[in-house]
Amino acid sequence: MDLFDECRQFDLALQSVKARNRFFYSRAISPAAAPVTTRDGRELINLGSNNYLGLTEHPKVKAASAAAIEEYGTGSAGSRLLTGTTPLHLEMEKALAGFKGVEAVVTFSAGFTALSATVGTLAGENDFIFSDELNHASIIDGCLRSRAKTVVYCHNDMADLEAKLKATPAQAAKLVVTDGVFSMEGDICDLPNLRRLADTYNCRLMVDDAHATGVLGRTGRGTAEHYDMEGKVDVTSGTLSKSLAAVGGFTGAPRVVTDFLRYNARQSVFSASLPPPVAATVIAALGILQSEPERVERLRSNARFLSRELKAAGFALHDHGTPILPIAVGGDDRAYQAAGRLEQEGVFANPVVFPAVPTGQAIIRVSVMATHTEDQLRRAVEKFTLVGKELRIV
Ligand SMILES: Cc1ncc(COP(=O)(O)O)c(C=O)c1O
Repeated sequence: MDLFDECRQFDLALQSVKARNRFFYSRAISPAAAPVTTRDGRELINLGSNNYLGLTEHPKVKAASAAAIEEYGTGSAGSRLLTGTTPLHLEMEKALAGFKGVEAVVTFSAGFTALSATVGTLAGENDFIFSDELNHASIIDGCLRSRAKTVVYCHNDMADLEAKLKATPAQAAKLVVTDGVFSMEGDICDLPNLRRLADTYNCRLMVDDAHATGVLGRTGRGTAEHYDMEGKVDVTSGTLSKSLAAVGGFTGAPRVVTDFLRYNARQSVFSASLPPPVAATVIAALGILQSEPERVERLRSNARFLSRELKAAGFALHDHGTPILPIAVGGDDRAYQAAGRLEQEGVFANPVVFPAVPTGQAIIRVSVMATHTEDQLRRAVEKFTLVGKELRIV
């Protein structure tokens, strides 16, 4: 036996998938997050990005990032506890706390890290975590790290969650954790009932606002604003890599909690801080979110437009009022074929197959941006219709 045996086996499978034109990962596109991108010199309408507000391309955001490089250099080369804290890091955390309406924020080098570190550090061996079955992998990773007893409840099923909470020792410390917007299906957690159950069964409630920040709520503040429940979530985490146009993650909570994470989470203590231009990007992006609230409305109207047009063309679409619009296509192979043909026709969209979704329920995951024009979306629908008819999806 050799440790690399598994890698070689995987490589055989990988090469076979590539040979059959069924490989759609890591397609190099430029730029990665614009409404229209290019691949090998060909233009593609980009319906795969999480750059919901289009801020990666905003002149003020780019200028802030460039200015921070001039002033602070490209990297921090140290953990936040040692040499990795600049005034920009402090300003970014303050701005995030203000935006999310929480007492304090601690940041991490990725959204994944924020979720995994927060769940994994807050909960311990004798505690219980209740986690939605469709929660993001970073939460699952945190559950494993915590060594807490993890109880998975059926997706957004409050009766199942309550039955599981009932069966748990009353005196145990408990955390209920959920995505705010679920990343593949695009649906929204049932925050009012999660709060009710958390109160009834004495649990802390944590929401992952990765896809909700900049998206949900009148001013894009996230899931709590969507439900008019600001201040009612105990721990809010999220990413800086989607609406906030950078990379990294955050956790917002009472200061005692964020300080506990800052000085105890291994991912914070033993890892370099975010590069200063990232902090500058996030500060600028938050400023624009507040000075140009019409971007959030524009995102919503684009999502409504695309959903309406795709439905009119006959696609089976799940629309939960978010910019994530999964189109049901059937089996995995159909999803690969559709993604391949769409690319040939000038549209970039991601196939999502088993095990990310149940067998036979593959989707093309479409995500829309505030900066798509109606003309681009209309053209994309034309191409979807052409491919959909060809593959008998519509
Ligand atoms: C729901 C959810 N949480 C967390 C993350 C991790 O964020 P990041 O990609 O910034 O590490 C993602 C990323 O796709 C996500 O969809």
